[in-house]
Amino acid sequence: MSASLATVSYIGATILFILSLGGLSNPETSRRGNYFGMIGMALAVFATVFGPQVTWGGVPWIIIAMTIGGSVGLYAARKVQMTQMPELVALMHSLVGLAACLVGFASYIDTATVLTGAEKSIHELEIYIGILIGAVTFSGSLIAFGKLSGKIGGKPLLLPARHWLNLAGLIIVFWVGGSFVNAETISGGFFPLIVMTIIALAFGVHMVMAIGGADMPVVVSMLNSYSGWAAAATGFMLSNDLLIVTGALVGSSGAILSYIMCRAMNRNFISVIAGGFGTAGGTVVASDGQPAGEVTAISAQETAELLKDSKSVIIVPGYGMAVAQAQHTVYEITKHLREKGVTVRFGIHPVAGRMPGHMNVLLAEAKVPYDIVMEMDEINDDFPSTDVTMVIGANDIVNPAAQEDPNSPIAGMPVLEVWKAKTSIVMKRSMASGYAGVDNPLFYKENNRMLFGDAKKMLDEVLTALKA
Ligand code: TAP
Repeated sequence: MSASLATVSYIGATILFILSLGGLSNPETSRRGNYFGMIGMALAVFATVFGPQVTWGGVPWIIIAMTIGGSVGLYAARKVQMTQMPELVALMHSLVGLAACLVGFASYIDTATVLTGAEKSIHELEIYIGILIGAVTFSGSLIAFGKLSGKIGGKPLLLPARHWLNLAGLIIVFWVGGSFVNAETISGGFFPLIVMTIIALAFGVHMVMAIGGADMPVVVSMLNSYSGWAAAATGFMLSNDLLIVTGALVGSSGAILSYIMCRAMNRNFISVIAGGFGTAGGTVVASDGQPAGEVTAISAQETAELLKDSKSVIIVPGYGMAVAQAQHTVYEITKHLREKGVTVRFGIHPVAGRMPGHMNVLLAEAKVPYDIVMEMDEINDDFPSTDVTMVIGANDIVNPAAQEDPNSPIAGMPVLEVWKAKTSIVMKRSMASGYAGVDNPLFYKENNRMLFGDAKKMLDEVLTALKA
């Protein structure tokens, strides 16, 4: 493929990626967005493999690598449960970071291109920054994977003088960076490069370990952004324009998402990154799940009676709905109630579940109409005029402690004010806490009822009782 045809393909792929991002911003256009992304990526890979930068001798190696990588990816994507998606994404981010590090080291020891003067310094700077971002992304994403999959506890690890440790790391990175760029020989530059890589890896671990449970969404989207910048840095090292553009698209959209998340969580971006949020006292529920007050249980039959007698119902889904895969029964109940003249709407918290848009995806899959699915800000004022709120497998996002207890680890985080409805019903299996690990005073409120059991099983029973 000629250089100009490759450039045209790259421009085409870039446009498709931008259209893809635009499409993904709305559930109604997201399928189209995905197709644009897939076609763009196929075009990008084709133009790169058969483009002017690859010699024919290298093609079989690339095809072997793509077959192995593609098979692993296909297997992982087919096997992964919907609830494991966020940890798979975190793992993929770590691979982008690892790739940036490996490309950085490879292009440093590559003796095929000999650069001198300013060109040499610029290339070395690209390598240094690429490995730096790549290493932070790699180790940070691995820890995020551990935290999201429950392999590492959600409790923040707060080292004494952690901010000073970070600052010392930063100073050393700048200092050894100077000696790396000024090194006369490759072997002379290796020591500073290794020192920086170790510090960057440690920083990634430290940064994510210090994050409190409820603030993980911000970190995940931030690592998403880092992985984009790592890819862009790789593009600079390899002089590949498409990789630079694609990396910048991922990096900037991830940064915008992190900002949106911070605003939704009422958090200061810098404070979340520096760690320590979600760490104050608060009442942490006993690990044996023992209740810290009186709760009133309700049966599926009684729940159905309450729903039948209501004029307005708000359903608040959370992570438990995803675990139970209860969205289809939720849809059936919604359909039944709407046919009986009950107004049913959904209240979606920006960080419900374990990934941005998690609940919207599940409800769209179950064919719940988009116009009754409301964002938190759109619906929060309507709870006082609502008869029943059904909280399905949600916990942190409906925790009144965020407003009532200034010492709570989730203090200040906006929540859905479900307790303001005439009656709230919480469906979950036990008194266990949610992701943030804090007790939920909602369960003990006078107008709250607990429907204990697996959400899918209990909702099936509610539906049967409604239809009876
Ligand atoms: P959580 O606070 O995690 O609560 C989910 C609840 O669902 C649990 O208390 C659990 O209680 C219940 N549950 C689990 N399986 C169930 C089943 N089969 N049937 C019925 N209930 C079940 O979820 P949330 O309210 O959606 O809040 C999300 C949390 O995750 C926030 O803290 C958020 O910061 C964090 N987070 C979000 C994201 C994004 S981007 N959305 C990413 C990372 C972390 P039982 O065990 O008693 O059933």
